[in-house]
Amino acid sequence: MKDISHKSSIKVYDDYHELADDQIVMLCKRSIDAMQDAYAPYSKFQVGAALLLDDGTFVQGNNQENAVYPLGLCAERVTLYAASSQYPDRSITHLAVTTRKHLSEGELPPFPCGSCRQVLLEMEQRYDRDIKIYVIGSNNSVCVLETVKDLLPFAFSKTSL
Ligand code: THU
Repeated sequence: MKDISHKSSIKVYDDYHELADDQIVMLCKRSIDAMQDAYAPYSKFQVGAALLLDDGTFVQGNNQENAVYPLGLCAERVTLYAASSQYPDRSITHLAVTTRKHLSEGELPPFPCGSCRQVLLEMEQRYDRDIKIYVIGSNNSVCVLETVKDLLPFAFSKTSL
């Protein structure tokens, strides 16, 4: 018997301004801005995302819904696919995600869904570079993860094929 374990670590800050890196604070703000423009008339759950590329370019996006519900797409994937299609040769270094959900005291903000985690993992492996993730709450709190592997351990990926 082998016991294989994975320990994920999340750092939680009360306010993203504590991150003390102007570019990352800007990234967080961009995901908050992007959330305002989300097209979410059905769920009314607005999500914004922003990512940073290795040359300092920002790309942002938000969730896009449809009357045919399954056709909607999460903010993270809208943003990741926009970056991948416009800047295919640039690696993604950081991603910030913001949701509007009201949080009670001490509650963590909603994290990216399983499908977005899978797409994030593909991007991390494609460019062979960890993507640092910032999950921001409606109270400006932020959870920081060093790599997508902390969001999706024991994953299916290109090496599984
Ligand atoms: N949503 C996202 O944009 N990102 C996630 O990680 C989870 C869910 C969107 C999809 C849908 O438009 C709404 O939130 C409610 O599920």
